[in-house]
Amino acid sequence: MTKGSSKSTTFRRLPGFRDFVPEDFALRAHIFEAWRRVARRSGFLEYDAPPLEPLELYTEKSGAEIVGQLYNFQDKGGRDISLRPEMTPSLARILGERSRSMPKPIRWFSIPQLFRYERQQRGRLREHFQWNVDLVGEESTAADAEVLAVAINGLRELGLDHTSFRARVSDRRLLSALLSASGVEEDRLPDAYAVIDKVEREGEAKTRERLEGVGMEPDAAGLLFALFAEPGLESVRRHFGDREEVAGILAELETYLSDLEAMGLGEYVGFDLSIVRGLAYYTGIVFELFDREGELRAICGGGRYDRLVEWAGGESLPAVGFGMGDVVLGELLSDRGLVPEYRRALDYFIVTIGDDLRPLALGIARRLREDGHSVVYPLRAQSVRKQFASAATEGAGRTIVLGPDEVARGVAIVRDMGTGEEQEVSLDELR
Ligand code: HAM
Repeated sequence: MTKGSSKSTTFRRLPGFRDFVPEDFALRAHIFEAWRRVARRSGFLEYDAPPLEPLELYTEKSGAEIVGQLYNFQDKGGRDISLRPEMTPSLARILGERSRSMPKPIRWFSIPQLFRYERQQRGRLREHFQWNVDLVGEESTAADAEVLAVAINGLRELGLDHTSFRARVSDRRLLSALLSASGVEEDRLPDAYAVIDKVEREGEAKTRERLEGVGMEPDAAGLLFALFAEPGLESVRRHFGDREEVAGILAELETYLSDLEAMGLGEYVGFDLSIVRGLAYYTGIVFELFDREGELRAICGGGRYDRLVEWAGGESLPAVGFGMGDVVLGELLSDRGLVPEYRRALDYFIVTIGDDLRPLALGIARRLREDGHSVVYPLRAQSVRKQFASAATEGAGRTIVLGPDEVARGVAIVRDMGTGEEQEVSLDELR
């Protein structure tokens, strides 16, 4: 609006961003509370970091896809910076600086808002909140199993079960052993991962062609697709189990899967070599959680990244973690009828009859609020009918009615808005 002009302007929300009016905020809070409860139950501590970071924190290790989606710019001091597209590099930066003096393992979680300049589509926006849970300083698969269990339990806490979602688990070391045996050179592995990461969207023919483009022998692609078509450790063992490095990884994966079985989560988890993850820094077991119907994009993704903390200037520290987004999850909860009904709730609404009783109403409101109750009173003189209508709109459980006759007798009428029951309560009890 130009200064002095009365012309108004309509502002639109940026594409891919959300407003959270109270009804929407309630779902967000419902999800965050479940995430926090589950993380804390497993001993994880909450942390946060700045939403802006130096650009190079992402350009070196996150991989081409995410770098193409950065919201980056130069600040007024000429620094190249970016809004955070993911949390893992910030975590590596913090631990790179501090982990030497910290007891291990480190169990941390966070719920940052992240920003990626993506093409907006179902389940993908330009901002999302992501539950990050990371366990740092433990190299055994017990840590991988613990982290996946937290992810699964986060969804179970929200009412979803194995009929609604599943975890698909793979191992980058296994895939790299198979790719190397198929002619792909070490330095082309990230390209091969990026190709395989898109196999479900692009289909077999195009993926084969692209894999040959990164050095894979044509016959080997056939075997890889046979393994994709037959998920499970058994087919990998049959085709490749005699190779020494593969046998070792298979044994680790068996321990990992039997830990998850012992936690009662076996029916949620399946081995699936076609899961590779889009980010470049993973080094071992990787996983993604999907809705069972296969209608939505991944709800969650994570894995082991044993070299990132060292890259960020720290000690050599094994790490495993995941990110679970609120967007796909919100859609799944809504598809399954698991979004709680939105209801306003208030403990007390104070109805006053006559302006003289305003100071009394204010005193009672103050006292009840100090005791931890939520209280609303009308901000200006209104009819009793209107005040009761407001009490209903606000979702008040009780109204406190201050009428001149009752107040003269030293009492107020407290009405239960659910049952309509009324009782006289001494003003001394209320103020
Ligand atoms: P990611 O796979 O890029 O992993 O993201 C994890 C999850 O965040 C996805 O499965 C998806 O639910 C959600 N998500 C990602 N991008 C968007 C978007 N544009 N709109 C809506 N939701 C989205 C990571 O970010 C890793 N840093 C996770 C991690 C933590 N790995 C180890 N520790």
